[in-house]
Amino acid sequence: MEPAVFANFVARESIPGSQLSEKPPHPRFRLPLVGDVLTTDFAKPCQRLAEQARELGPVFEQKLFGYPAVIVTGVEAIEEVNDESRWEKHVGHALMKLRPLAGDGLFTAYNSEPNWAKAHAVLAPAFTKSAMADYHAAITGTVRELTDLWSTTAEWIDVPAATNKLTFEIIARAGFSHSFGSLADSNSGSFVEAMVRELSYANRRTDVLPLFEKVFRRADHARHEADLAHAHAVVDDIIEARKHDSHRRYRDILDLMLDSADPETGERLDTVNIRNQILTFLIAGSETSANTIAFALHYLSTRPDIAAGVRAELDERWPTPEFPDIRYDDVAKLRSLRRVIDETLRLWPTGPGYFRRAKHDTTLCGRYRFAKKDWVLVLLLGAHRDPAWGHDADQFNPTDFCPTTFAACRPASTNPSAPAPALASVASSRTTKSPSPSRHFCTSSTWNPTRNMTSTCAKPSPSSPRVCAFEHVVDVVRRRSDRSPVEANLHQSV
Ligand code: HEM
Repeated sequence: MEPAVFANFVARESIPGSQLSEKPPHPRFRLPLVGDVLTTDFAKPCQRLAEQARELGPVFEQKLFGYPAVIVTGVEAIEEVNDESRWEKHVGHALMKLRPLAGDGLFTAYNSEPNWAKAHAVLAPAFTKSAMADYHAAITGTVRELTDLWSTTAEWIDVPAATNKLTFEIIARAGFSHSFGSLADSNSGSFVEAMVRELSYANRRTDVLPLFEKVFRRADHARHEADLAHAHAVVDDIIEARKHDSHRRYRDILDLMLDSADPETGERLDTVNIRNQILTFLIAGSETSANTIAFALHYLSTRPDIAAGVRAELDERWPTPEFPDIRYDDVAKLRSLRRVIDETLRLWPTGPGYFRRAKHDTTLCGRYRFAKKDWVLVLLLGAHRDPAWGHDADQFNPTDFCPTTFAACRPASTNPSAPAPALASVASSRTTKSPSPSRHFCTSSTWNPTRNMTSTCAKPSPSSPRVCAFEHVVDVVRRRSDRSPVEANLHQSV
């Protein structure tokens, strides 16, 4: 998902100023009625907020048209809002805009919706280490198709667009044994195009401007309605076809959802919820992974010294020029490449934030009072560049992820002997994952929705979907030649 989706967080629920014992700071030049419009970057809202965090953080407020949002970027403040006893996951305004598409899928489900817990129970086996190993062949096979395509093209390559197609295709093949056939397809009417347009539609920041959408965006709205209907119809067809497939030989996530029941209640997922989960995986897993690959390739193309190290690691393992036979167990051993991905995700967390909501009246940093249901945006983009990471926090330096360096540069606020929260929230914020929500899928080796992820995410496991992203990069880097247009053009494309 693009950073802008998360940045589009304008509050629809207000936080009355009187409830705060001390008001968090806010940007200068605030105007009556319209608020912080002069200091908001409507094109790059997350990046602007991350800049402002340096002056205003660790907790500050942005207000637009009377709607305030509290932004949290400091390590210790994030630890507090990750405390499950006081705060919980919140479907913020940005995610609300995806509800028409993904309904009560895991990403956009409200905490109170029964399907949320049911789906967690049913889907748990899809995120174990052995499940990840099962997806491996689909992943490497799809990557090979892309790199073969790249090696024969003389055209300029739009890397983020290509990696988006790649990740959509991988999720569809690995999860639902379905191909959108989209890698080489420039057909703008395709499902992938419709999905990408839907995500852009949800990204819009202009919806905060009164009447702007109604006056200037009518055509977009009509397009959105058509894309929504198309996406639902395509996924419904996939589900129906599988239901009526008498051979049912696949063992994938779709089968799991159709055939399994919640072990506690014995209840199954209904068809609409299965559609919502499929769309959720495509939404939550595609742009995040695709943009991580694109950013990583960008860094490798601009840092030949680091690229040489990664290439040497790959050449050592696969000395011949053929497409490498990457086995699932190889992935965790590619340390240099892994550090590149970690550092890429630190600087450009492609899920740049998440929302948390107070479970009851509480305080933050001992200064700011929050009423039950007040919410904050944890801005990972700001947190990952917090001064606690040192003076060079803006620099791309994968060696920071060597075990010794990582220990040394850990912010002083963390206590390694504590059960976990501080160290792990820092570690997970370095690796972009939401530091703690126990609902988070992406950081655990054997995913367990009931466990607090802060205790497991300090050491990313080979089963993390993040590793899938990093596998793609392995292949792409391995295949590219020094004279390939891909390498020459990466810098400009990202
Ligand atoms: C680099 C890749 C990825 C990044 C950076 C990333 C990041 C995130 C973040 C920050 C959240 C928390 C959002 C929130 O609490 O509001 C999240 C949630 C989620 N992600 Fe990922 N993600 C990645 C890959 C994937 C993949 C490959 C999938 C599935 C195929 C996936 C599925 C999900 C789901 C279902 C949730 C919602 C979990 C829940 O609340 O129950 N993600 N992701």
